[in-house]
Amino acid sequence: MSKVCINIAWPYANGKIHLGHVAGSLLPPDIFSRYNRLTGNEVLMVGGSDQHGTPITVTAEKEHTTPEAVAERYHEINKKAIEDLDIEYSLFNKTHCKTHYEVVQKLFLDLLDRGYLYIKQTDQYYCVDCGRFLPDRYVEGICPTCGAVDVRSDQCDTCGTTLEPGDLKEPHCIQCGNVPDVRQTEHYFLRLSAFRERLLDFIADKDHWRSNVKTFTQNWLNEGLTDRAITRDMTWGVPVPVDGWDGKVIYVWFDAVIGYLSASIEYSKMIGKPDYWKEFWQDPAVKHYYFVGKDNIPFHSIIWPAILMGEGGLNLPYDIPANEYLMFGGGKLSKSRGGAIDVPSVLKKYDADLVRYYLSINMPDTHDSDFSWEDFKIKINNELVSDLGNYYHRCLSFTQKNFGSIPDAAPPEESAEVMEKIGSIFKEYDEHLSKCDFKKALKAVMDLAHFANKYFDQSKPWALLKSDKEACGRVMNTNLRIVKALAVMSWPYMPRSSEKIWEYLAIGGTIEECGYEGMTSPLPRGAAMPEPVPVYKKVEFEDEKEKLNKVPAAEPDIAGPFADFRRLDLRAGTVVSVQDHPDADKLYLLSVDIGEESPRQIVAGLKAYYPRERMLGRKVLVVSNLKPAKLRGIMSSGMLLAADDEDMGGSAVLLLTPSKEVPNGTKFSSGMDSSPSRIEYKDFQRAVLKVSTVRDGTFVAGSRKLESAEGCPPRAVAVIDGDRTVLLSDGNGSVATVDSEIRDGAGVR
Ligand code: MF3
Ligand code: ZN
Repeated sequence: MSKVCINIAWPYANGKIHLGHVAGSLLPPDIFSRYNRLTGNEVLMVGGSDQHGTPITVTAEKEHTTPEAVAERYHEINKKAIEDLDIEYSLFNKTHCKTHYEVVQKLFLDLLDRGYLYIKQTDQYYCVDCGRFLPDRYVEGICPTCGAVDVRSDQCDTCGTTLEPGDLKEPHCIQCGNVPDVRQTEHYFLRLSAFRERLLDFIADKDHWRSNVKTFTQNWLNEGLTDRAITRDMTWGVPVPVDGWDGKVIYVWFDAVIGYLSASIEYSKMIGKPDYWKEFWQDPAVKHYYFVGKDNIPFHSIIWPAILMGEGGLNLPYDIPANEYLMFGGGKLSKSRGGAIDVPSVLKKYDADLVRYYLSINMPDTHDSDFSWEDFKIKINNELVSDLGNYYHRCLSFTQKNFGSIPDAAPPEESAEVMEKIGSIFKEYDEHLSKCDFKKALKAVMDLAHFANKYFDQSKPWALLKSDKEACGRVMNTNLRIVKALAVMSWPYMPRSSEKIWEYLAIGGTIEECGYEGMTSPLPRGAAMPEPVPVYKKVEFEDEKEKLNKVPAAEPDIAGPFADFRRLDLRAGTVVSVQDHPDADKLYLLSVDIGEESPRQIVAGLKAYYPRERMLGRKVLVVSNLKPAKLRGIMSSGMLLAADDEDMGGSAVLLLTPSKEVPNGTKFSSGMDSSPSRIEYKDFQRAVLKVSTVRDGTFVAGSRKLESAEGCPPRAVAVIDGDRTVLLSDGNGSVATVDSEIRDGAGVR
């Protein structure tokens, strides 16, 4: 038995974890930990929420709340989501806690003592309009290395390059859009250059690393190591433990990687063995694994090892099996793509084990893999349910029904072929798992399930039952030995359903107690078997929305209200003439100037609500890219936006109007890039626009925080998508509003 330390990248506590996090860095370590536990190893598995840095403060500013509130909220949500996924950390810690502060500050001071830190004047972005220094995510621009756009100033997620102030092309402040100055400020720097030789030695024997990790690291080292600023001009984070450094904190990355150590220490305190962590961190025989996404590679293969070397006496990483990305329609899977893929939403619909299976068999381990709900359904239904689940159920229900408990075993020569197969599959499986090849190991299990189904069919227990019940019992005993092996081998991937199968076998204990050692031993004459229920059920889609994956790539929001909104072309206009429709007494025939050569002719059903004199000269908002349609014989080329609270039991119909006067033709796209092309009325209906009172930056309907409530009139229109609420505006201070009372939450048509 040996000890293994499993370290898991800390998701930022600025949002709910989603399937990309699970496939990338959260599920693989849990599989690995369970594999080690079944092998008989002792595992310490730590990680937690990364609660500091600009990811959190930017979110807090958007939500008009404090960084602490954001960090705590998402920590709780994500901790629960991780538990619900049956991912079993020793401790899922957080960085905003006392032990972590102490450990970070201690390491900082140790490195300072040893001359690995120094103070330097440095360039930093500064926004004159916002009156502050702009660290990291407060500035975006173009990546100097790969040309990706909207890249943050500390790292490009597309190519992995880490960046320093001044590196970005066309930088702008994310708050106000202005081009920031570069000013001087003072920071502590980590003398990375001093570690170059030691780092080269460190990676020299890492032939077992995945090639992407090794190559990436080698390139970094070959390019020469630049010292890096490890403090920032902000107040949310671990304070710099030096007098006179108020108003600056330790950089989130320097702080977060130390979390592995501090969480190990915190866990040791929790279990009442304060020195327990030393058994893992100070005994060089203990291997340390780091499960991270590919954008985290240099922090774990260079910066963290350098910090550990500087501190001394602590184990360096043994392996960093970084995964690639889970992709959706050509882009990295993220909250804004791919619909409801955050863990709580997914688990509301599907059992954790289904999600775990799919993300394991489709794991982006050596290259990016594609995610789609369509593919999820196919893999679950055609592999998991029809091969593994079906075999389990055939065996268990047949035996339970006809024998009630496990029948007598066959003599060894009768089951030899099966036992050999189990042995050879296990060998393959074990080899893959020991190298963190999770997908391949699971494929081996599925091969065994395939073999098992064939064995069942060929041995025809249903026929034997009639001709020779004892022979049938022997065959079933052999089948149940496969069931047992399958359940044990699947347990790291699908623990809950595997334990359930174990219960149906009625052989006592748990899979974890059995381990791989007991996997192939003969089945004990068990107690009465309970009646089994299939552990995996087919996935059926309730509605077609779940097939949204088919939408072409490159579209920013694949689906959902924002995507629908982006298809609208909304323009400010002025009503320049009003006539009655000759053939319909509720309709007006309007000409509306929307900045084009000639005014648009629009037919509108507004007579009952607006007398002619209140129409003429009125400032309105027009949907300008609707397919023209005849209304009672007259062509209408557009539509005026109006709020209507009939659905809410009201009777108001109010035209929307810009809160500040703008030229005709001004686009109301709320600062989103739009890609309008001609749309149908039903396309318009899909975009959800709501009217409500706005108080303290909150859209009273649904009490939603507005992303930016600047210059907002007391009543406004917003576009709502999931947890984001954005005012309908020209992006320049003119907001869509109505000029009298209407119920909060009224729709727009
Ligand atoms: N929060 C980082 C991210 O989501 C990962 C931090 S991993 C650790 O990219 F090294 F800081 F722990
Ligand atoms: Zn780049």
